[in-house]
Amino acid sequence: MKLLIFDSYETQSQAVADAILSQVARKPESVLCLATGDSPLRTYQLLVEKAKAVRMDFSMTHFVALDEWVGIPPDNSGSCKYFLTKNLFGPLAISSDRIHLFDALTSDIKSECAAMDDIIQDLGGIDLMLVGIGINGHVGFNEPGVSTELYSHVIQLDEVTQKVGQKYFKERVEIKEGITLGFQHIRQTKMVLLIANGSKKAEIITKMLEGEITSDCPASILRKHSNSYVYLDSLAATNLS
Ligand code: F6R
Repeated sequence: MKLLIFDSYETQSQAVADAILSQVARKPESVLCLATGDSPLRTYQLLVEKAKAVRMDFSMTHFVALDEWVGIPPDNSGSCKYFLTKNLFGPLAISSDRIHLFDALTSDIKSECAAMDDIIQDLGGIDLMLVGIGINGHVGFNEPGVSTELYSHVIQLDEVTQKVGQKYFKERVEIKEGITLGFQHIRQTKMVLLIANGSKKAEIITKMLEGEITSDCPASILRKHSNSYVYLDSLAATNLS
């Protein structure tokens, strides 16, 4: 795992956007798995700007889901699908047959998980995954204590995630479960980038990087990935020894 610390959220986001663009330039048919949330938002804005400036061709690139709130419709502005469509797929004009997201309204969630696992396998695995980290250490919706042997699965959301997750929604919603890729996917992904910024992430970043490697802090498992990169701004890195 490599650690990169930047002086600001802006320079950090520039670097992550550049890493994604280089991946697609190197391999246009890349399979990308991208998180939603506040941390990668600027990355996506810069990615869109840069991609347009260099006329980057995304027509062969595939995008797979990282996670979704179970029971939240895709037209709810708090859903992961809405976020990615608004900030990435729409602006980059990604064709819908290249976008593979979870249907969080399905009545057969087990089949939905199996279908996502099959899609990822059929595409030859994930080339690049960009994840954030929750203040409880979650990655995707792999919550503290999760089994690291899982592929796609449904999980009971941690109380912290249920509370913090309200920030994505205009009105209070019940978010008890998430559907997420599991650590088996993360482990098999060729390159994993984690992005964290701001002082609110300083404590969990120290735990992730300097504490025990344990599923009680799921992000710490990334330290065992041979091609993982952690992008921090100076605020998130404050407490590191
Ligand atoms: C969202 C996701 C979550 C977030 C994490 C950090 O798709 O997978 O694990 O990455 O909760 O969220 P922000 O970036 O909003 O602090």
